Amino acid sequence: MTRFFRPRQLVPVLSVATLPLLFAACSGNYPNSTFQHTTEFNRDLTSLWNQMMWWGLAVFVIVETLLVYVIVRFRRRPDSPEPRHVHGNALMEISWTVAPALILAIIAVPTVRSIWKYQTPAPNGSLQIEVIGHQWWWEFKYPEHGITTANEIYLPVGRTVNFTLRSADVIHSFWIPGLGGKRDAVSNQVNHLWYTPDSVGVTGWIGSCNEYCGASHANMRFRVFTVAPADFDSWANHQKAKAVYPPPAPDTVAVRQVAAAPAPAPAAIAEGYVFPAAQRPAHVVPATPIPAGNTFTEGLTGDPQRGLAIYSRSACIGCHKIDGNPMSIGIIGPNLTHIASRATIAGGLFPNDTRHMQLWIKNARKMKPGVTMNSLGKGEFDPILKMTVTVGGLTDQEIADIAAYLQMLK
Ligand code: CUA
Repeated sequence: MTRFFRPRQLVPVLSVATLPLLFAACSGNYPNSTFQHTTEFNRDLTSLWNQMMWWGLAVFVIVETLLVYVIVRFRRRPDSPEPRHVHGNALMEISWTVAPALILAIIAVPTVRSIWKYQTPAPNGSLQIEVIGHQWWWEFKYPEHGITTANEIYLPVGRTVNFTLRSADVIHSFWIPGLGGKRDAVSNQVNHLWYTPDSVGVTGWIGSCNEYCGASHANMRFRVFTVAPADFDSWANHQKAKAVYPPPAPDTVAVRQVAAAPAPAPAAIAEGYVFPAAQRPAHVVPATPIPAGNTFTEGLTGDPQRGLAIYSRSACIGCHKIDGNPMSIGIIGPNLTHIASRATIAGGLFPNDTRHMQLWIKNARKMKPGVTMNSLGKGEFDPILKMTVTVGGLTDQEIADIAAYLQMLK
């Protein structure tokens, strides 16, 4: 005999079954959620989403209630007579056509309004940032300040930022989920994206590429720090200054007076504001493991002045620019002018520390698949050129010196 569950027996089972769903929805904070209320853009997005969700929920509840009612009320019983045969019901058919059309129309109004709002040009006085996607890193320019940087953006809280998006090669897609977005960066068209970060809470964000663009698409990230306007000004004023190492003597007269004393070792370049490392939220600190097979001689101490000399006569200068080092004028790689002030290297893949910098210089192509930067370490195998670096290769000591020089470029 078939066993039938009574409806009231099903209630506890269904209730328990829905609990995991409820708990999953409240099981932590999601810093990369686009439903953060940090800009007008993602607040509008949340509002749109909620409207659609509530309409969808209402439809779901009505349909499921009717369905369950019909299943229970008209279920087959041992003594059920043959049901009445019907064909069509004009009223019901019109209702279930008109009702969804109405709901879609109601949803369309705020949707289209939002699309138009964010397709208009950014308000006057917006902070302009030019974004250029490269395989596989991000170049950022602040034309108002004359800054070119890579893989890291500082934004002042309260000022609208207008991103101008382009690509140097294939299609990339620019997205900072915590602030709003996303939009494609295309080579033959300029796209725009604007919003106003107004959050004074969490201030460190992750941005990423969201259009498949080749071997290291997943390794094309960047960091964003929304900071107080005064901190932004300090950062920007410092970033636009040249990074001259060793720093020029403060005052030639004073130097002449102390000429008899031994010259102190040149200090690092004085720093502007940088987002404090200790306050960076855990999710913006990269935890990428060092790929197997990458090693560096332990215990070497780099000499920054020697590093400056080696850097300035090595292949580095053909691809990288350091404003303040007249030898370093390349533009196809990331601008390194204030590299030491950045939180990450390699398109946000690794933290910017001595060990990762050394390994990166030694064999970038073994650290991140497909990168343009050649393997430079003497005796290293270059996986793209399929050959071992011999003539012109850098020893670990030379690499340690170059890394020490780069770390002076605060
Ligand atoms: Cu650039 Cu994916």
